[in-house]
Amino acid sequence: MTETWAEPAPTATALLLLGRGSDADSEKGVDCPGELPPASDPDLVARAKAAKEKLGSSVFILGHHYQRDEVIQFADVTGDSFKLAQQAAARPDAEHIVFCGVHFMAESADILTKEHQKVVLPDLAAGCSMADMAALTQVEKAWEQFTDLGIAGDVVPVTYMNSTADIKGFVGRHGGVVCTSSNAKRALEWAYARGEKVFFLPDQHLGRNTVVREMGFSLDDCVLYNPHKPNGGLSEQELRDAKIILWRGHCSVHGRFTLDCVNEVRERVPGVNVLVHPECKHEVVEAADYVGSTEYIIKVLDEAPAGSSWAVGTELNLVRRVAAAHPDKNITFLDRTVCYCSTMNRIDLPHLVWALEELVAGRVPNQITVDGDTAHYARVALDQMLALP
Ligand code: 13P
Ligand code: SF4
Repeated sequence: MTETWAEPAPTATALLLLGRGSDADSEKGVDCPGELPPASDPDLVARAKAAKEKLGSSVFILGHHYQRDEVIQFADVTGDSFKLAQQAAARPDAEHIVFCGVHFMAESADILTKEHQKVVLPDLAAGCSMADMAALTQVEKAWEQFTDLGIAGDVVPVTYMNSTADIKGFVGRHGGVVCTSSNAKRALEWAYARGEKVFFLPDQHLGRNTVVREMGFSLDDCVLYNPHKPNGGLSEQELRDAKIILWRGHCSVHGRFTLDCVNEVRERVPGVNVLVHPECKHEVVEAADYVGSTEYIIKVLDEAPAGSSWAVGTELNLVRRVAAAHPDKNITFLDRTVCYCSTMNRIDLPHLVWALEELVAGRVPNQITVDGDTAHYARVALDQMLALP
C-alpha cells in the first residue's frame, strides 16, 4: 500500500542547504572558500567574458536548465541532467569542466570524464535536498533486510541521477542502472528484464509515476520504504508482494505543486494545458495534460501553437526563460508562489566569475572528485544508462 506523501518538517539539512555548516562529502551545503566579487560589481559580465576567452577551449561550461539567466548565458551547452551527462562524457579535450548545476551532477561529470579532466562546481553549497534523502548506510541497511528476507536476488536497484555518487556506486555494485527523468521507463524496462522487483531510489514520485502511468502497474504494486522507520515501515509480506519498492525521497521544488494548483489554474485560464515534470506528486501528474523531463517540457512549449495557454509545473528559472522566448504563447507558472530551486540558485554570476578567474590564475577551485572504488561502480551504472536502447 502507498503511504500518503507529506512535505517533511524543516530540519538541520535545510539550513545546510542554505550554505551554513559544513559537510563536504555529501549533498549538504558548505561554506564557499575564496574572495567572491560583490554581486553589485557592474563589471561581472565583462569579467566572466574575459576569463572565459582567456581559458579558451581548455574550459567547457555546462549549464542545467534550472540555472539563473545570468549564468546560463555563459554555458557552452545547456541541458537536462541526461544531456549534460552525455555532454560531459563527450568532451575529453577540455581540461576543466565548469558545472553550473548541483553537486550530484558534477560528481557524475567527474565519473564520466577522463582522468586528466577536472570538474569544478562554482559553489559547493549547490547540493540537492532529494539526493540527501538517501544515505549509503540507510540504503545498505535496507538491502541487508532484503537479503535476510531472501528477496535481494530478485531485486534490481535503479537510482535516479539525482543521487550521490555513493548511491550510484551501490547500484552499480548490485547490478542496477542509473536513470533520469527522460529515460526512466527504458531503465525500468531494462531492470524488469533482469529481476522481478525494482528498488527505486531516491525519488518516490518519478518511480511511482513511471510505473503507474507508463507501464500499467497499479498503485498497490508500489510500496514506500521509509528509512526512518524500523524495516522501512513495511511488513515482510508487503515487501514480498511489491513490484517496486520506492525510497521515501522527493524533490522539495516539484513537491510543492498540488492538485489545488491544477484546479485553480484550470478555472482561471480557459483552455489551459497543464504541463508538469514527473518529480511532481502522483495526483498532480494524473491531473496534468502533459508530463515529461525538462527537455521534453522545453520541446512541447517550443512546438506549441501561437496563442495557446500553458501552466508549467517545474523550476521557475526555466519557466520564466521559456515564457520570455515565446511571447506569442501564454506560458505561466503552475504555482502562484515563487518556486526556485534554492540550491541551483546558489550558482550566481559572482561564483562563476570567481571560479573562472581562479582557473585563469592557475588554481582549480571547488574541484569535485569521486573516490576510485565508488567511481568505478557508479560508472558501471551510468554507462549502463548511457547504453540503454
Ligand atoms: P532533469 O534534468 O532530469 O529534468 O531533472 C530535473 C531536476 O530536478 C534536476 O535537478
Ligand atoms: Fe534537487 Fe529538486 Fe533542486 Fe533538482 S530541483 S536539484 S531534484 S531539489
